[in-house]
Amino acid sequence: MEQEKDEVTSKRKDDHIRICLEHDVEYKLHNNGFQDIELRPATLVNLSPEKIDLNTTVFGKKIDYPLIVSGMTGGSKLGKQYNEQIAEICQEFNIGMGVGSQRAAIEDSKFSETFEVRDIAPDIPLIANLGLAQFNKRYGIEEAKLAVEMINADALAIHINPLQELIQLEGDKQDNYSLEPLKQLISNVQFPVILKGVGTGFSKKDLSNLTKLQPYAIDVSGAGGTNWTKIEFLRNKSMEYVSEEFVEQGIATAVSLNHARSATKNKTVKLVASGGIWNGTDAVKALILGADYVAFALPVLRALAKGGVSELRKFITTFIFELRTTMAMLGSENLHKLKKKRYKKIGRRYS
Ligand SMILES: Cc1cc2nc3c(=O)[nH]c(=O)nc-3n(C[C@H](O)[C@H](O)[C@H](O)COP(=O)(O)O)c2cc1C
Repeated sequence: MEQEKDEVTSKRKDDHIRICLEHDVEYKLHNNGFQDIELRPATLVNLSPEKIDLNTTVFGKKIDYPLIVSGMTGGSKLGKQYNEQIAEICQEFNIGMGVGSQRAAIEDSKFSETFEVRDIAPDIPLIANLGLAQFNKRYGIEEAKLAVEMINADALAIHINPLQELIQLEGDKQDNYSLEPLKQLISNVQFPVILKGVGTGFSKKDLSNLTKLQPYAIDVSGAGGTNWTKIEFLRNKSMEYVSEEFVEQGIATAVSLNHARSATKNKTVKLVASGGIWNGTDAVKALILGADYVAFALPVLRALAKGGVSELRKFITTFIFELRTTMAMLGSENLHKLKKKRYKKIGRRYS
């Protein structure tokens, strides 16, 4: 039975990759909310993009850019290949990397090697990954430590995705999401814990509750990029009549980030912005809105599928080019100065 369960988990991960590569899995009716944030770039720029310092630190490690590739893969042969390619590029750019949910490897250790990338990326901040749904049912501190030790990670991300579990064919359906396991976990482990969405964003109330747990960081992973509700419905043939309005529910990344900034004001909790932040210009807006780091997932997978590591290198190089050049136009030579920049919010969704 256990044997069957881990095979199901592994196949599901490959299904997700295949669907992401073959279908439109992005939000269509809604965007990530950054279109409503207007910057005031100068035309008479006198700051060279090369002079801009994008260094920062995460988990006490120095990174060259405030960027993280979000956790996606592992648990299958294909997932291993993607993890290794992502690790190679993250080491090259000296940025952070998350692996996908390690549930398959917790259920069967034969999958552990599909997440192990330390040999390829010895220096980067590496983030292990498990889901809250599993912590609510059977996982505890032991599984959390196992996930981190398995890949010699610097931190653990716990993804929070009740909607996805509800609609997933084999999802862990629960009526009551308790935060008690997270509270226990965060206060009993030595490594940093990140509480992470999966592309539907967190509400003001969610953010206030998550902040009280005092995690190292919250990754808002808002709506506007990859739409997981859509992905799960594409795996479920009996759901072909489900409406666009239903699958597009979620809180736009910029809006969720704005709430997160208020919820974490005067606290030590760091903020990761993700969810459709697929270019350096939106990344600058996210950093000004209060993010400490920006993360992205789907474009990484698509670049690798298109042309392997060289295509991913091209994508990240362009992302950094936009980041630097937009900062130069704003006259901000480092991340600290960028945070003080003024911007204008337009549209009613911020009121
Ligand atoms: C193929 C794929 C697999 C993913 N698997 C996981 C996962 O196992 N754990 C997790 O926390 N998030 C997972 N995610 C969600 C991403 O980490 C991210 O939060 C989400 O896709 C929003 O970012 P994006 O709009 O840049 O894709 C996955 C995303 C993709 C595209």
